[in-house]
Amino acid sequence: MRLGDGFRPPQKRSILFLVVCGGLSVGAFLVALAAVRPSASAAPGLGQASAANYDESKAGNIPLPDPLVFNNGKRVRTPAQWKKRREEILKLYQQDVYGVTPKRHGRVHYQVFDDSRDALGGKAIRKQVTIYFPTPKAEAHEDLLMYLPANAPRPVPVILAINFGGNQTVDADPGIKLAIVWTGKPPTRRKAPESSRGHDKGFDVEKILARGYGFATICYQDIEPDFQDGYSQGGLREMFMPPHQPEPTGDYWGAIGAWAYGMSRAMDYLQKDKDVDAHRVAIMGHSRLGKTALWAGAQDKRFAMVLANCSGRGGASPWRRNYGETLASMSKAFPYWFCPNLMNYVGEAGKLPVDSDELIALIAPRPVYITGAQDDQWADPHGMFLAAVAAGPVYKLLGAEGLETDQMPGINQPIAHTIGFHVRDGKHAVTAYDWDQYLAFADAHLKAR
Ligand code: GCU
Repeated sequence: MRLGDGFRPPQKRSILFLVVCGGLSVGAFLVALAAVRPSASAAPGLGQASAANYDESKAGNIPLPDPLVFNNGKRVRTPAQWKKRREEILKLYQQDVYGVTPKRHGRVHYQVFDDSRDALGGKAIRKQVTIYFPTPKAEAHEDLLMYLPANAPRPVPVILAINFGGNQTVDADPGIKLAIVWTGKPPTRRKAPESSRGHDKGFDVEKILARGYGFATICYQDIEPDFQDGYSQGGLREMFMPPHQPEPTGDYWGAIGAWAYGMSRAMDYLQKDKDVDAHRVAIMGHSRLGKTALWAGAQDKRFAMVLANCSGRGGASPWRRNYGETLASMSKAFPYWFCPNLMNYVGEAGKLPVDSDELIALIAPRPVYITGAQDDQWADPHGMFLAAVAAGPVYKLLGAEGLETDQMPGINQPIAHTIGFHVRDGKHAVTAYDWDQYLAFADAHLKAR
């Protein structure tokens, strides 16, 4: 089963809840990403699916905001001016979309509890580290799993991925610590079962290592719960909540902001590990975690590259488009991913002062790769393409390349400049095809350095 796709009952309008099917059997444990994901092929008028528009001529065609125009209407002409404009966009994104990320609070410290020299049949060094980070209320922590290719010259470039179901789902290696995950109804924290090992088929650790990259991963469940009202369940958002504030309001950060914060704390550790080349760390995430990777990369310039798999609305797809998932549908199913202010724009996303082309531009001139899938129209692949095109002028201004075309490519026809993009055949998932493109992109931009 592939996390992030296997649990999508088409046309089911059940509201989320990362949660699970009872007990602790395999199917039981994995995160139920139950989603409002109506089938794109369903004819209009057929039940729930009719709520989503899949007709390009009705997508709204509202122009995307120009990243190179200041809030006061003046044009950005130089890289120095872009620096200032970048701050404006970041602020707007914090204020109206993901919420304000708190500054790092106090000193992060680590406990390396595993350093095995002969993992994966001798092909890898496996390290596991608990990363402790203080918050105003208590010390939070997350577990990082890392494999380094046994024979590669040090320090190695690393791909840091954020996963859904626990570090043990990325490989069947029995040495990986089992995560504590939310299961059942109501969700409670329990240790993931042995049978969940290697269950996320979206990762092929050995393939990544064979190409000379290290692979590191953290689980989003260590950081912040993924369900409505999860902010009161001891996650990071609760830890940073000001005293006397009963619930998130205004620009208080949503779950995506918290998950992105967890990625930055993982980077704090990677910077300390001498086996890792901290100047060559790429981040990767799928779906809601693709949105997270984009936001993490937008804020934290230490990440040298961003790989955003099927990130869709709330990620690389513009809010302004009425195609597939919309802000309105998201406001019902996943409002807690974002700050409460975003909900003021439901029904009038065209009034949002920022959009996803500017989110991508925040990453410039660092390489970013955006993907969609043909059978995942819910995520609006064409919208992601338009945003990637519109981010291009910022890359150009900074001396890099954009997508270098405004012609939407065909299926399985990757474009790879400093911005990369493809729509592959198949559904909402991370596949071997996606990794082939990511690794080629990494070879071009990270390895070559
Ligand atoms: C739902 C949601 C998407 C999200 C996806 C996921 O389908 O509508 O926005 O990307 O879940 O994270 O699995």
